Amino acid sequence: MGLQLQTERLIIREFIYEDWPAVHAYASDPKVTRYMSWGPNDEAASRGFVKAAVAQQQEVSRTAYDLAITLKSNGKLIGGCGIYRQRFKEGEMGYCLHRAYWNKGYVTEAAAALLEFAFSQEDFHRIYATCDPQNLGSARVMEKNGMRREGYMKEHLFRDGQWRDSLLYAILSWEWRSAREEV
Ligand SMILES: CC(C)(COP(=O)(O)OP(=O)(O)OC[C@H]1O[C@@H](n2cnc3c(N)ncnc32)[C@H](O)[C@@H]1OP(=O)(O)O)[C@@H](O)C(=O)NCCC(=O)NCCS
Repeated sequence: MGLQLQTERLIIREFIYEDWPAVHAYASDPKVTRYMSWGPNDEAASRGFVKAAVAQQQEVSRTAYDLAITLKSNGKLIGGCGIYRQRFKEGEMGYCLHRAYWNKGYVTEAAAALLEFAFSQEDFHRIYATCDPQNLGSARVMEKNGMRREGYMKEHLFRDGQWRDSLLYAILSWEWRSAREEV
């Protein structure tokens, strides 16, 4: 069995090819992908994403961990999240949830599990994530997980014909450990 992370309400697991329609359900929604660097997806893009996520599971030195967010209660796939290895034991974290499940604390829970995976199962030293300054929910998810706002990146990505700014958030392995010891 591949990678699987459990939280109170979620099972975060490897994608299988048959997941693509559930991925398409959120990845084709313009309201969901508004602040992402990709999307809204057509069917080919959603199939291609899942195919690539399945292929990366076979890599000898895996650099990308794209994982499905599913509900423990009924197995339903409600979103995706991931960590992407950079140089110097750094990882980028990302996440995306079907609109019907927003504001229920699910991504806060998923991000906590990803950080635990990165710092206790893997040997990452630093995890960062970026979000659009208007994406208040995403910034909040990072803050609730103890990530520090490190910067404001002007015209960091190009989307829909315009340059967009991003906020940069990060947490170091020792910051994550000392925050857990305090609890
Ligand atoms: C952003 C996103 C990941 C948040 O996931 P989620 O599961 O809804 O987040 P949670 O419920 O765990 O937490 C959201 C927090 O943001 C707050 N929030 C949400 N929308 C907000 C808004 N418009 N203004 C202020 N706060 C907001 C919530 O109140 C909550 O904080 P709280 O617990 O202090 O009340 C989800 O909306 C999503 O997938 N959006 C589309 C894709 C995307 O933008 N991904 C991130 C790219 S950087």
